[in-house]
Amino acid sequence: MTKEGSQAMGEKKRVLTGDRPTGKMHLGHYVGSLVNRVRLQDQYECFFLIADLHMLTTRPQKEHIEALRENIREMVLDYLAVGIDPNKSTIYLQSAVHAVYEMNLFFEMLVTLPRLTRLPSIKEMARAANMDDEAVPFGLIGYPVLQAADILMPRAHVVPVGKDNEAHVEITREIARRFNSYYGEVFPIPEALIGDVPTLVGIDGKAKMSKSLNNAIFLSDDPRTVEKKVFQMYTDPKRVRADIPGTVEGNPVFIYHDIFNPNKAEVEDLKDRYRRGKVGDVEVKEKLARALNQFLDPIRERRQYYAEQPGYVEQVIYEGTLRMQRIGEETLSLMKKAMGLTGIWNRISRKARDRVKKQERQAAEG
Ligand code: TRP
Repeated sequence: MTKEGSQAMGEKKRVLTGDRPTGKMHLGHYVGSLVNRVRLQDQYECFFLIADLHMLTTRPQKEHIEALRENIREMVLDYLAVGIDPNKSTIYLQSAVHAVYEMNLFFEMLVTLPRLTRLPSIKEMARAANMDDEAVPFGLIGYPVLQAADILMPRAHVVPVGKDNEAHVEITREIARRFNSYYGEVFPIPEALIGDVPTLVGIDGKAKMSKSLNNAIFLSDDPRTVEKKVFQMYTDPKRVRADIPGTVEGNPVFIYHDIFNPNKAEVEDLKDRYRRGKVGDVEVKEKLARALNQFLDPIRERRQYYAEQPGYVEQVIYEGTLRMQRIGEETLSLMKKAMGLTGIWNRISRKARDRVKKQERQAAEG
């Protein structure tokens, strides 16, 4: 790379975002975040974290930790398959970066307990994990503090997240401001970049697409599975026969057609005939399955290509993590210097070393 090139890279603003490693990613992840990340890669210096420590806030048991290994690999394969490029972006494993544990502790001093316990997102996560108020661990209350450590470690400027994480970025901003005002300017105040895409409805037509609700089409589903899932899809329930006029608005099959079928003329024709009761669900679904499979073909191909290179996924995570470890140490050192902690230890060790030297000299003379 030319000198100008590397300098220009250094000047790019930084993006940090990431996911808890729950395994294979689905179409909802694609429209809600992945496609956006691929776009951001050229304009920003991007950091994508695998938030395995955040998994521990609701699932600390050994069996869940054991499941992480496979889930991390599947998730990173999906990152690579959709076009997240490790030559442009840093993909790293949160738990392998020591600085995050320390930063987390310092930030715990800069936010109040009521500020955290009032957050609806914490209550929501507790509910999803079947915990009542009494069972919520300290670490789950601290979820947004750990997230602030993630975001502030590379001194990120932009944090692309879903609406559900907006409040966590707000807490990060408050922590960064408080740190800067107590100790001096170390952190830029990061901005949340909230996706304008409404969450994608699942194939059940009821709730947002999610692995746990069993209503997801995964990026790695094979063509037959995609077809089967499309044929199970919820449509207009009033339409028990093909000649009954149907509703297009809010109908999952047409929501998907609008997003994934690039043939706009075909989609308009199907909508028109659907409204007039001139098309069967079978045709609408066949065409949707075809469009989805055409969309997924190159993703599946790239996924398989990377999956077949032994050690490749691991190398991507390894190199990204080493890079983040360096950045983490750098930020931590800036923080400790600003806080005056470095000075305390330096003075103690200098005086101690002087004394040891003096004793050694005396022993040699005596
Ligand atoms: N909280 C995010 C989620 O809902 C995961 C996450 C952890 C994250 N640390 C982050 C997102 C930092 C953005 C920035 O899964």
